[in-house]
Amino acid sequence: TNPNVLFYLAAYLIGSIPFGLLLAKTFAGVDIKSQGSKSIGATNVLRVVKETNPSLAKKLGIATVILDALKGTVVILIAMSMGMNEQTLWMIAVLAVLGHCYSIYLGLEGGKGVATGLGVYIALVPVATLIGALTWIIAAKVLKISSLSSLLGLTAVIVSATLMNDGLDIGSNAPMYLIAFIIYYKHIPNIVRIIKGEEKKVI
Ligand code: G3P
Repeated sequence: TNPNVLFYLAAYLIGSIPFGLLLAKTFAGVDIKSQGSKSIGATNVLRVVKETNPSLAKKLGIATVILDALKGTVVILIAMSMGMNEQTLWMIAVLAVLGHCYSIYLGLEGGKGVATGLGVYIALVPVATLIGALTWIIAAKVLKISSLSSLLGLTAVIVSATLMNDGLDIGSNAPMYLIAFIIYYKHIPNIVRIIKGEEKKVI
């Protein structure tokens, strides 16, 4: 069999691990899939756990971002060390993000792909990702809305990667846009709430 196929499968299965859900359940005894935005990401961990334990919420939120990002970074770095070409690396990245957003362990439900997207982008388009991360931090400080900050940060990543031609040529970078599309798509309920002025501030 083509070793790439095994890598795609591994990336999807690893991406599917719902760290936020597991951490919130284990350490705070709450089910984030039935509370808050019902997403399994760090923002919802922070939001839901904060109600009962603010200091624990911060720790679990940070741990969730790191672990969800690492799901993406680790598979890409392993594939890189095996000399896989950039097109294959990008497909692995897509599958890790898909796993997070449509987890096999959660009946194809999951998170919104921001942290896992960060994890794959940092390995593949590092400079653009740093610009995106900086954008997120500034937006979060000013706007105090996680989802809107994520959407602005994501936009900053793909715009700056495109302008700087960071990473590869545009042809094999197409999956970079697919990843962004998946993340935007998963944020549609957030976008609706932002437009209506109903999106909750979490930070
Ligand atoms: O990291 C996901 C974030 O952009 C939005 O999360 O829970 O507010 O929908 P949430």
